[in-house]
Amino acid sequence: MRSVKILVGVVVALGLAGSMAAIVPAFAGAKGMYDNPKAPPMTPRLNLGKLSYDAFCASCHGKTAGGTDKGPTFIHRVYHPGHHGNGSFFIAAKKGARAHHWGFGDMKPVKGVTDDQLGAIVEYVRAVQQANGLF
Ligand code: HEC
Repeated sequence: MRSVKILVGVVVALGLAGSMAAIVPAFAGAKGMYDNPKAPPMTPRLNLGKLSYDAFCASCHGKTAGGTDKGPTFIHRVYHPGHHGNGSFFIAAKKGARAHHWGFGDMKPVKGVTDDQLGAIVEYVRAVQQANGLF
């Protein structure tokens, strides 16, 4: 009887943890990853941004900004436009960024990316954030 009660308790606890992860996206993003990010509806301008994003940022920030083991997802309230404005993307790419939100380490400056490309990258990242319900 005792072991049945324990088993029921474990099943209920697992269920609660699972539904929390589903209800609070930030819970799942605590490790800096966002699983299966949705692609935004694409336009020629966003395609341009995606090409540059894939070339310069995706190796760490992940395909469709979902994050990797080298850098955080951008689909997280930390990177909401109200918290990290568009300018912070230019600064991060040009000067790098000190590790302060996660445990990935510092971001080094990104070589070879132009202001035009960064402008298109920011538009693409904002569209991805919007497609995944960040704002
Ligand atoms: C070699 C890996 C790597 C690459 C490539 C990379 N980043 Fe990062 N980036 C990081 C890491 C790691 C952080 C997290 C720093 C922290 O802990 O807050 C970060 C943080 C950022 C931030 C937040 C900065 C802040 O002020 O908190 C922005 C914005 C950003 N990256 C934009 C970009 C853009 C745009 C590109 C492509 C042009 C890019 N990153 C390419 C690793 C990378």
